[in-house]
Amino acid sequence: MKIIVTGANSQLAYTIKNYNFKKLKNINFFFYNKDSIDISNFDSLNNKLELIKPDLLINCAAYTDVVNSEKNFHLPNNVNNISLKNLSLLTNKHKVTLLHFSTDYVFDGKKNDQYNEGDITNPISVYGKTKLDGEKNIVNFSNNFIILRISWLFSNYKNNFYKFVINNLKSNQNFYAVNDLFSIPTSSIEITKFIYFILENKINIKNLKDIYHFTNTGPVVSWYQFAKYIKESYLSYHSTNCEILPISSNDFFKNNIRPKYSALNNKKLIYKFKYNIENWQHSINSLLNMEFKS
Ligand SMILES: NC(=O)c1ccc[n+]([C@@H]2O[C@H](COP(=O)([O-])OP(=O)(O)OC[C@H]3O[C@@H](n4cnc5c(N)ncnc54)[C@H](OP(=O)(O)O)[C@@H]3O)[C@@H](O)[C@H]2O)c1
Repeated sequence: MKIIVTGANSQLAYTIKNYNFKKLKNINFFFYNKDSIDISNFDSLNNKLELIKPDLLINCAAYTDVVNSEKNFHLPNNVNNISLKNLSLLTNKHKVTLLHFSTDYVFDGKKNDQYNEGDITNPISVYGKTKLDGEKNIVNFSNNFIILRISWLFSNYKNNFYKFVINNLKSNQNFYAVNDLFSIPTSSIEITKFIYFILENKINIKNLKDIYHFTNTGPVVSWYQFAKYIKESYLSYHSTNCEILPISSNDFFKNNIRPKYSALNNKKLIYKFKYNIENWQHSINSLLNMEFKS
C-alpha cells in the first residue's frame, strides 16, 4: 500500500514521519513538502499521483496562521478552500482515498457544550471560514474521504502551545496563558496512532465519505489550565521558577477571532471504528517521559 503525505513540514506530518510504522508490512509512505507538491497546483499534484499511484493521500497541507489570515484572505482561501476542489477531483481520478484535517474553528464557540459533527457551523475567523469552505468542497466533490476535525494540536515538533510552555519552564521565564478559551487538546501522536490502527487492521475506508471529530479524551480545559497541567507534570522531572499568569483572551490577543468553547465530541469516531483514544493528560505525560526520562 502506498500513502502520500502532503504538507510534509507540518507538525502532524512530522509526527507521522517519526512514528514507527515499520511493523506494518508493505506500507510505503511518500512525504512531500510544498516544494514537491503544492496542493494549489493542479499539475504538481496530478504528476505525483500519476507517478506514485497511491492508495491513500493524507493531506496535512494548510494555511494555519489564524492572525495573518484576517489580513490576507487570498492565501488561506487558496490553500484551505480552493485547492481542495482540485485535490478531490484528482483523488477521484486516481481512485485515491483522501484523509483530510479540519478544525474546531468551524464553530462559533457559543454552544457551551461539546460540539457534534452535525452541529451548525459558524466560523468567526477567516481561517475557520476557509477551512469550512474546504470541507464543503471535499464533501461536494470527493468520492471517498475522511475529514477529521481536530483541536489544539500538540506534539514535540515545530511551534505549538505545549512546546511554548516547555520552553518557558526550561528557561524559568514567566508567561501569560489565556483563561477564558476552552477546548480539549489533541496529541498529534494520537492521530498518528489512529492512522496506524486503520492500516494495521486493514479497515476498509474505501467507501467512506464522512466527517468525524477527533480529539483526545479527557477534561475540557482553558489554555491556562492546560499550561498548569503541563507544569505540574514537568515538575516530576525538573524544577522551575517559571510562573504561569492567567489572562483574558481580549487582553492577550486584542481580537475576538477564536471560539470561546470549541471542545469536540469524539463519540461518533469511537463508535464507528471501535477505537479508544487516550486522554490528553496521558499524552502529555508520555511526551515528557520521552523527552526527559533517560
Ligand atoms: N495546529 C493546530 O492546533 C490545529 C488545530 C486544528 C486543526 N488543525 C489542522 O490540522 C492540519 C495540520 O496542522 P499543523 O498544525 O500540523 O500544520 P502546520 O504545522 O501549520 O503546517 C502546515 C504545512 O502546510 C504547508 N503548506 C502551506 N501551503 C501549502 C501548499 N499550497 N501546498 C503544500 N503544502 C502547503 C506549510 O508549508 P510551509 O511551512 O512551507 O508554508 C506547512 O508545512 C491542518 O489542516 C490544520 O488546519 C491544526
